[in-house]
Amino acid sequence: MKLKGKVAVITGAGSGIGRATAALFAREGARVVIAEINETSGAETARRIQAEGGEAFSVTTDVSSSESVAALFQAIDDRGWTVDILVNNAGNTEGGLTPAAEMTDRQWDVIIAVHLSGTFYCTREAIKRMKTRKQGAIINLGSAAGLGGLPGAASYTAAKGGVIALTKGVSKEVAPLGIRVNCIAPGWIETPILDSLPAAMRPAMPQMAPLGRIGQPEEIAAVALFLASDDSSFIVGQTISPNGGMYT
Ligand SMILES: NC(=O)c1ccc[n+]([C@@H]2O[C@H](COP(=O)([O-])OP(=O)(O)OC[C@H]3O[C@@H](n4cnc5c(N)ncnc54)[C@H](O)[C@@H]3O)[C@@H](O)[C@H]2O)c1
Repeated sequence: MKLKGKVAVITGAGSGIGRATAALFAREGARVVIAEINETSGAETARRIQAEGGEAFSVTTDVSSSESVAALFQAIDDRGWTVDILVNNAGNTEGGLTPAAEMTDRQWDVIIAVHLSGTFYCTREAIKRMKTRKQGAIINLGSAAGLGGLPGAASYTAAKGGVIALTKGVSKEVAPLGIRVNCIAPGWIETPILDSLPAAMRPAMPQMAPLGRIGQPEEIAAVALFLASDDSSFIVGQTISPNGGMYT
């Protein structure tokens, strides 16, 4: 087991990539904290892990609120759990694809708030706990969109580009404290988030990758496990893009 004795906090773990990562980390021996805005789906992820004999609890959390994030980490402290691993995975969409010239303030603000500010708020709280123990791994979910750009998604592209840059900046700051920060920038992955995109885009997605298919959440969870475990002990500030060859 690669994560035996570790505590992993995974945001947005009620669905998709986060749920697959939570399940894999639990099978690898981690105790898992599910920080999810959807109370029902977060509790369901915890229940599935417990049913397999793992340890998990869910805390209803809005990562775009620094108060909510502070309460999440307080709940972890109150349990007497440490924080060894943080996966900043929570993600949202707002209104599908919209040209930049027509994008509303809200479409801009809520995406930046969840993906970029949310990643920062959780990172800040995690570092406070990790630095006292001189160890930790933080994994941020960027996107191939943040590397190559996605038309009609100015806010999402900017937020994910920001997450990739945040990864680089914070990683240099905290590596001397024993904390490694890295980023995963997936291509198209089969999760409910794709439902927010125009249905006409779906048939084209597999063709965008030379592998000829879109990815599965478990294929991202496997990369997260690598970055969370000692297998990646010399990897700092990097962005790995599992995308089937779509963006190289
Ligand atoms: N699926 C893809 O093709 C793809 C590609 C690149 C990057 N990503 C990124 O991967 C991450 C996971 O996405 P997914 O594909 O699994 O989507 P998903 O919709 O299946 O899961 C996202 C989860 O985040 C939760 N969430 C939303 N807002 C939240 C908030 N404010 N606080 C806490 N939780 C919140 C949702 O309730 C949901 O459970 C996201 O950051 C997404 O941008 C996904």
